[in-house]
Amino acid sequence: MTTNVPRHVAIIMDGNGRWAKQRGLPRIEGHRAGAESVRAIVRACGELGIKYLTLYAFSVENWNRPKPEVSALMRLLEFYLRQEIPELNKNNVRLAAIGRLHELPLRAQKQLQKSIEALSKNTGLTLVLALSYGGRAELVDAMREIGREIKGGRLDISGIDEASISRHLYTRDIPDPDLLVRTSGEMRVSNFLLWQISYAEMYVTDTLWPDFRKPQLEQAIADYSKRHRRFGRVGTAEEK
Ligand code: IPE
Ligand code: IPE
Ligand code: MG
Repeated sequence: MTTNVPRHVAIIMDGNGRWAKQRGLPRIEGHRAGAESVRAIVRACGELGIKYLTLYAFSVENWNRPKPEVSALMRLLEFYLRQEIPELNKNNVRLAAIGRLHELPLRAQKQLQKSIEALSKNTGLTLVLALSYGGRAELVDAMREIGREIKGGRLDISGIDEASISRHLYTRDIPDPDLLVRTSGEMRVSNFLLWQISYAEMYVTDTLWPDFRKPQLEQAIADYSKRHRRFGRVGTAEEK
């Protein structure tokens, strides 16, 4: 059987805190172990021929966590972005970011820009990091921009359609996700890519993010490849 590999996989990386708690460790140790999973999954996606991987790394709501945890996450982000450039480059990975990036600490913003620039010529997997990201915030930002264009006479109200809204999202250059994965068993979307996941296939696993590695990704893709995506149409004869 040929496996139908999704073009774009989006992952809600959840369960770092619980992973640490189970081991009697501080939450940040869970985030560190989670960063190892990021490494493994980025490599695996390249190997499997996936073109886009979007990772929900930090939500707009995550700013409400205790300050020491937020600071530790921001330092970890900066460290990852700096340290991974050679490995990402070797694997032909291009980097992009979505979210209210200007809300990140300046050092993280600068490192992010540097890393994106250093990897910009690559042509393999595009790794998209969702940082200070919220689906509703993204829609608010898009509507403000559309409003400005109408006010400035550059857009007519009749020009607002699904395509033009998509063009105003942070994800304007990225196709919609085919497969949405959430780890740690939580059955919710938590404000992730609200517009873009309209027809994504969903896969929820109880595995905690630090334990999610290539075999678990392969399992998710095997599951995806058995799905019949109907997009509101009727199924074909061979579908049950
Ligand atoms: C996901 O793990 C990482 C981030 C949201 C940054 P959590 O930190 O949410 O882990 P749990 O859900 O508390 O186990
Ligand atoms: C979603 O996880 C955000 C990220 C993975 C970055 P959360 O742990 O913040 O989501 P809730 O609070 O369980 O909905
Ligand atoms: Mg969580």
